[in-house]
Amino acid sequence: MCGIFAVVNDKTNNAAQTVLAGLKKLEYRGYDSWGIAIKPINVSTLRVEKHIGKIGDAKTNLPKGRIAIGHTRWATHGGVTDYNAHPHLDCKGKLAVIHNGIVENYLEFKEELIKKGHKFASETDTEVIAHLIEEKIKHQNLISAVFETFNSLVGSNAIGVIDFESETIIACRNGSPLVVGVDEKNHQYFLGSDVPAFLKYTNHVHFLDDGEAVVITKQDVKLFNIKSGKEKKLVLQQLDWHLEDAEKGGFPHFLLKEIMEQKETIAKTASINEKEIEKVSNLIKQGFKTVLIGCGTASYCALAGKYFFANAGLESQTYGAYEFSPFARFSDKKTIVIAISQSGETADTLIAVRAAKKTGAKIVAVVNARGSTLERLADIVLSVGAGPEIAVVSTKAFTAQLATLYLLAKAVTDRYETGKEKIKRLGKSLKNWLDDKLRNKIINLAKSLMNQEHIYLIGKHLNYPATLEFALKIKETAYIHAEPFAAGELKHGVITLIQKNTPCFVLASNDEIKGEILSSAAELKARGGRIIGIAPFNSHEFDEVIQTPDLGDLTIFANIIVGQLLGYYLGVGRGADPDKPRNLAKSVTVK
Ligand code: AGP
Repeated sequence: MCGIFAVVNDKTNNAAQTVLAGLKKLEYRGYDSWGIAIKPINVSTLRVEKHIGKIGDAKTNLPKGRIAIGHTRWATHGGVTDYNAHPHLDCKGKLAVIHNGIVENYLEFKEELIKKGHKFASETDTEVIAHLIEEKIKHQNLISAVFETFNSLVGSNAIGVIDFESETIIACRNGSPLVVGVDEKNHQYFLGSDVPAFLKYTNHVHFLDDGEAVVITKQDVKLFNIKSGKEKKLVLQQLDWHLEDAEKGGFPHFLLKEIMEQKETIAKTASINEKEIEKVSNLIKQGFKTVLIGCGTASYCALAGKYFFANAGLESQTYGAYEFSPFARFSDKKTIVIAISQSGETADTLIAVRAAKKTGAKIVAVVNARGSTLERLADIVLSVGAGPEIAVVSTKAFTAQLATLYLLAKAVTDRYETGKEKIKRLGKSLKNWLDDKLRNKIINLAKSLMNQEHIYLIGKHLNYPATLEFALKIKETAYIHAEPFAAGELKHGVITLIQKNTPCFVLASNDEIKGEILSSAAELKARGGRIIGIAPFNSHEFDEVIQTPDLGDLTIFANIIVGQLLGYYLGVGRGADPDKPRNLAKSVTVK
């Protein structure tokens, strides 16, 4: 939550414009407000601009300069106002701070600082950081003042501090992501919460570890250990991400682009991680207990994984990571905890992973973003390779994670190669099926549902987690109450909700339980429900159907993609922003 961006030595001399463009790429991390601070050329005072609302098509008239920082905010402490937007300044306006995280002990600092005469301009926890540094700088140099301040903060935090006199940016990380990018050719340096913000300029990066800081000047970037203050060797890695990954590529929204990219991303997943999957499957074969955790979409992926494992004859457990703590003590050295996450930065997932680690459990990360905290905590990383997912709503990362779990389940029963072939075949069918004809069909369905406030969905076995994910896409993107149920739950109370014309989605596959789910559909129909089948077949129980390819136990991929597209078109039709749904942030880095 919150996006950090900075540039040093901007080659265009227009650092504010560069920061503005970078922040637009990071807006998915928070869109309550945004702000930029720049040191204009040949001027000693800094200039700041802050606004509430989405950065969208915003422009800035800030003067030219070669060093600037900026921030997109997802509010935690202090309301959504201009004055609470970052950057925050010290009393003299010599340094500015941007921050992602929560300073849990900020109130005690604030009281002390006020007593010492510091004047506060906001209600945020962030502002204390600027004043603390200002106070310390009276007695020590800038770098140690920043490090000492950062060491005194309680909580998960990442900060960027710009000192205008020395034209230096210092960034520190503990728990919230930070990555530095080096454009060696043009001697430009970048700082971001995530790579897409500066991918246009460089893919040579260093992901900061917890406890690391970078000091960026016109000359170079230096890496430090914050606790000891000692310099470390900075080793850059080159990512295989390209500019197109962070652009809309002709699509009106990232969400639609990412949904359509699944024609390639799912099959691509089948070609990576072979060795790592083998390592995990060996542990499972040795009798390790398997626990799958995640939040939101990732938790539905975990649940689908549980069915894949069950189909392979394996028992596993799943938990929403936020509910894991009472059960953490049942993990031990013979447990593998498979943590699923797009960002690898979700606080609830990281807390659960740390709790499991304490018990000696092995951690397997099924993660999409690169250089994340989850990756660092894990013993084995299954990096799913869907590429940057910019839309807040997860789509292609989810299906790549799901494919990875499928392959793992196959590997445990020595059928990895068959699994790989099936995933590749799935990719091929998606290429044919995911076309304009399908999209038009879904657009028409969306039009007919546009004014609905309640939608119900049922699914059974593998189609149960599919139903949960389908419903979440509609809730997140279109703000419609979409309630998913296991079909078996219907008769136990839920059926009271069904009235004449209530939209009821029935997700099904061509499998041995097809008859059971169709009986449930018939029960809904008998109560007057409008039955919309999402299945590889038509049936008289359905009033209408979106037919998906018949892919055996992989049919749920296509069934879920219908939900992604439907959510998208409903969202657009209802005037929502499909890339940035209200109140949501891409990575939820607070508890
Ligand atoms: C997905 O569409 C959601 N926005 C959300 O549920 C998300 O999946 C969840 O917050 C977990 O995020 P992660 O995968 O980055 O851990």
